[in-house]
Order: sequence, then C-alpha cells, then structure tokens
Amino acid sequence: MEFQAIGVPLLEWSGGGLAIGLFEGEVALRDDLAALNDRLGGAIAELIEETGFKGKAGSAEAMRLAGAPIRKLQLIGLGKPAALTLDGVRQAAGTAAKFARRHRCTDLGLSLPLAIADQAATTRAIVEGVELSLYRDRRFKSESKDDEERPDLTTVQILPFRGAAEAEADTLTEAIALGQKVVSGVVLARELVAAPANVVTPVTLAQLATELAQDYGLDLEILEREQCEALGMGAFLGVAQASDLPPKFIHLTYRPEGEPRKKLAIIGKGLTFDSGGLNVKAGPGSSIEMMKTDMGGAGATFGAAKAIAQIRPDVEVHFISAATENMISGRAMHPGDILTASNGKTIEVNNTDAEGRLTLADALVFADKLGVDAMVDLATLTGACVVALGGKIAGLWSSDEALGAALQRAGESAGEKFWPMPLEEDYASGLKSVVADMKNTGPRGGGAITAALFLKKFVDKTPWAHLDVAGPVWVDKESGIDPAGATGFGVRTLVNWVLS
Ligand code: BES
Ligand code: MN
Ligand code: ZN
Repeated sequence: MEFQAIGVPLLEWSGGGLAIGLFEGEVALRDDLAALNDRLGGAIAELIEETGFKGKAGSAEAMRLAGAPIRKLQLIGLGKPAALTLDGVRQAAGTAAKFARRHRCTDLGLSLPLAIADQAATTRAIVEGVELSLYRDRRFKSESKDDEERPDLTTVQILPFRGAAEAEADTLTEAIALGQKVVSGVVLARELVAAPANVVTPVTLAQLATELAQDYGLDLEILEREQCEALGMGAFLGVAQASDLPPKFIHLTYRPEGEPRKKLAIIGKGLTFDSGGLNVKAGPGSSIEMMKTDMGGAGATFGAAKAIAQIRPDVEVHFISAATENMISGRAMHPGDILTASNGKTIEVNNTDAEGRLTLADALVFADKLGVDAMVDLATLTGACVVALGGKIAGLWSSDEALGAALQRAGESAGEKFWPMPLEEDYASGLKSVVADMKNTGPRGGGAITAALFLKKFVDKTPWAHLDVAGPVWVDKESGIDPAGATGFGVRTLVNWVLS
C-alpha cells in the first residue's frame, strides 16, 4: 500500500473513496466542506440529514455518489474537538480504511483534522490506523474466492490537515515511513502471537532473532541450555525441563552509531506454550488452547526490535526473551520442587503454572547486569490481571515513578492502555516459604500484584517496570484497529518509549 501526503485541497480531490472526519457539532458544514457539499450537489448535507449523523466519536456513515468525481463518500465522527487525541485520529483512519475495503475502493482520500498540533505524529497515526485495521492473517487458511474478488486498497492520499498550516513535504514523507516501520513491528508481533505452538517454538523464535540480526544489523547472543546452566539460570531451566524442545535464551541488541543518549532493556515473557505443567490447565475456563499466546511479551519485544532497528534512534536497546514451553513429561518439575535462580535465590515451586515469573526471574537478573538506564518487562503473566482490568487494559507496575509515567505517556499516544498498579510490599508476605527463600505463588487475592512482587526480587539496581499484558494481546472480536485475533499489543508503546 502506498501513502501520499498530498497538497491537493479537499475541493479538488477525486477518486474512489473519500473519508471526511467531522467533529461533533461541526455538522453545520463550514468553509471547504460547504464548498465541497455544493460541488457534490448537496450530497454531504443530505447524508447528514438522512442518517442523523452527529459527529459522535466512533460513528460513521457512507453513501454512493452517482456520476460524481468521487465514487463513495464517508463521514467519520470525531467527537468533541477539544477531546481529539492522536489515537482518535488513528481509529478514524482505521474506520476509513475498512470503509474503503467494504466498498471496493482501490484508492482512498483522507481528510482529517490535526491532533495534538503535530502534523508528523498525526500522519504516523493515520498510517498505523489504516494498515493495522486492514491486516488479515491468511497464513493458515486455504485461498478463499472472496479474497480474490475483493480488490486491495493500494493508494491512500492524506489530504492537508484541515485548519493547519502547510507542512514540509519531507516531514510528512518521513512520518509516513516511521508509521510503516512501526506497523511492520506490530505485524510481526501479531504473526508471532497468532501462530500456534507447533509453528512458533523456542527454536523458531531463535531463528527469527537470527534473521532480525542479519537483516537489520543487530547484535545477537543466543544462550543454549548448557550456557544457561553455567550462568545458574535454574528458574528458567526448571520450566524448560519437561519440553522436548530446547530452551533458547535470546538477546538481541540495537546499538546506534555514536554514543547512545540512553540505554534500555526490554524483556518479554516467551512461553511458546503454557500447559500449566503438572498443575495442568484443566477444566472449563482454563483456556489451555489459548496458551500459544503466552509469548505475547516476546512477540512485542521482537516486534519492537524490528521497528527500532529500522528507525535507528540514538538509543541502545537490548531485547531479551527466555524462550521455552511449559510442558508435562517424566522430566517435569514436581510441584514443590526447589529451584535456584541466577542471583542465588531459592524458589519453592508451589504451582508449576506460575512459570512465567520463573523464566522472567533469570531474564531480569541477566538484564540488570547490562548496566542499562531502565528496563521494562512485558508478560502475559496472570489471569488475575485480566480479572482486574479486563481484556483491553494492561497492568503497569514500576519501582520508579518517572519510568512508570514515561510508559504511561508512551502508551497514551500509541493508543494502548495501561493502568498503574501497586507494588504493595505488605503482600510480599504471601510469597513466604517454609523451606526456601520464597514460593512462586501467593494467595488468590491480588494475584497480579504478588506476581509483580515476585519479579521485583530479581531486580537489583536498575529502574524497572512490569507490564502484565495477559488481557490485551488477543481479542476474540474485531475492535477498532485490531481485527479479531492477535493485536500486537505493546509494540507501539515500546517504540514511543524508546524514542522519548
Ligand atoms: N500464562 C498464564 C497467564 C494467563 C492467563 C495469560 C490467562 C493469558 C490468559 C500464566 O502462566 C498462569 O498460568 N498464571 C496463573 C498463575 C497462578 C498459578 C498463580 C494464573 O493466572 O492462573
Ligand atoms: Mn502458567
Ligand atoms: Zn504462562
């Protein structure tokens, strides 16, 4: 798909589909809209009149224009002008793109207002909204006739932002390219998360990392089981021991050319399948068949790596995942086993299904030693977080207020939601073990918080944040710019955080 930021005024645009964003209360049609309405023989006013369109955020109406230089017209509600966010524009662009596909337009003109007074950011958000909302995963389906018949949207023209001064063409071209790089990362994350556990394994994740390193000039380190053993990663290896597939500790590094402005680490939970282990995920509600998504943190991490490696910011970034499966066999961890992590701490595994925190423990110890300025982990860590925040909001815990706030801001402009959660030290007593330094599982209540407190025990000196993304990595039904399935959640936030 090609994006063009063109200087053609609204009144002169012609083509297959034109989508116009309108604010609530703006339906009175001022200026250029009134002129376009006249040119289209009153079609815009008629559409508003007939449908009762009010410009409410999330609403949209479309019509066919017989014999006009514009074949299809859509009005998209943007809500109140003062409340328009970058994500509001991203969502509107997604609505417009889906309208174009439904109406078989191969080209789309987009007339939207500026968000947060930033032409580059608005342009990038439009590219993300269009591409991500049209994404379809056909890898595991045989060819359908429907796909052949429906033409692809090939050209998207971004008209001058209404009410904004003219922008430098270069600025907008760069913003389009930035959006496309981010999209390629989100798409990679979606592909990884949606792929089943017989396709994406610790071995294929390591292969992917090797390809990313080759394609984009990243440094690559993959620790095999023996090397992890030598480093004392008993927690990670305890989880890995029942699988027939070898564990892979993956460490990719992006290094800028000059002296980095800052150094960061991103750590993703990489369970390519979570059976629960001997505390097997059994019975209704355990959703064992969805546990291919338990590498959603790693998916976001590698997606961010792909985007960052193309964007090439002046920031050093480490991308880490301790990848394995949590399986059952004669070699499996027994509930009650005691493991020793790479910082020397001992863990009584009172529940083999709390495996993510065991793999993350060794990954955090490893990242902490890199001497970075901050590190953030993303993990599909607990069902408790889904109970607390539902399917669209991730939990955010941080030992560092500024880091937490930076991630929150990064998420806001990315259109990804994070809610601050407490690292309530009082609850740490729930992890007390009679026989070891700690148990891996606390009481049922506050389960997402004790999980975060467990991770904290493996962070020594580096400012750290933990994102529990168990809810938002997957949607059962299409939602905004996320088609049903894997969302690629986290990539856009991570990119914004690195660039901030
Ligand atoms: N991968 C799961 C968490 C999960 C649940 C992710 C639902 C996505 C959707 C994690 O490994 C797990 O099993 N957590 C347990 C922890 C419990 C044993 C303390 C849980 O949430 O039930
Ligand atoms: Mn589990
Ligand atoms: Zn898990």
